[in-house]
Amino acid sequence: WVAEYQGLRRGRVRLAVITTAKYFAPELLGAFSRRYPDIDISLKVTNRDRVIERIRNQDDDLYIFGQPDFDDLDVALHPFAPNPLIVVAPRDHRLAGQGRIPLKALAAEPFILREPGSGTRQATVRAFADAGLTPHVRMELGSNEAIKHAAIAGLGLAVVSLHTLSVEGAAGPLCALDVEGFPIHRQWWLVHNQGRDLSPAAAALLAFAREQEPVIRAQVGRLLGELGLDAGPSG
Ligand code: PGA
Repeated sequence: WVAEYQGLRRGRVRLAVITTAKYFAPELLGAFSRRYPDIDISLKVTNRDRVIERIRNQDDDLYIFGQPDFDDLDVALHPFAPNPLIVVAPRDHRLAGQGRIPLKALAAEPFILREPGSGTRQATVRAFADAGLTPHVRMELGSNEAIKHAAIAGLGLAVVSLHTLSVEGAAGPLCALDVEGFPIHRQWWLVHNQGRDLSPAAAALLAFAREQEPVIRAQVGRLLGELGLDAGPSG
């Protein structure tokens, strides 16, 4: 165990996360490095398709990922915290405050969509398609923060992860609309390649993340409540 302990003291972990997890991963890593001050960490933040590519290339030790609906990758999957998708609008939007807005009403509004390769985009398009609808896309943007700014500026409505509101909460310039079929209750997964052993440092981060999961789950439940949304399975 001495070697393992030394490995832990000197280790290095490479973590890659989908963009919605960047709203939580730095806090997780901050707490982790207080416990393990000598483990160096690298964090890569990118979209769903790029993370899949990184898993395929075994670029990192650990991943935080969305829907693992791939069947050609040999990975270990650990269910992680909830990641609900919500519809956001500027506070003064005429649909703000309305109850159970039909998805059809949303399809008539200008929409801001993430870039191809984004899991958020995929889930949004699928939600519309399942109802036989297509969103009226006014703008495509490759960043959650850019989407928030564009929505605040009145360029359109958008579907984003609840976590994108983690700093400003329900008091910010955006509100969540109560739309039929939303929130879409999804979750994150902790993923690593099966083909090789986790380093002691990576195993420590995996265990630490799983230990912190209830904290994120509680934050999600609280924020959904503040936004007046259905807490679903996370509540
Ligand atoms: P994205 O990740 O950045 O690819 O939209 C979110 C997700 O897949 O849940």
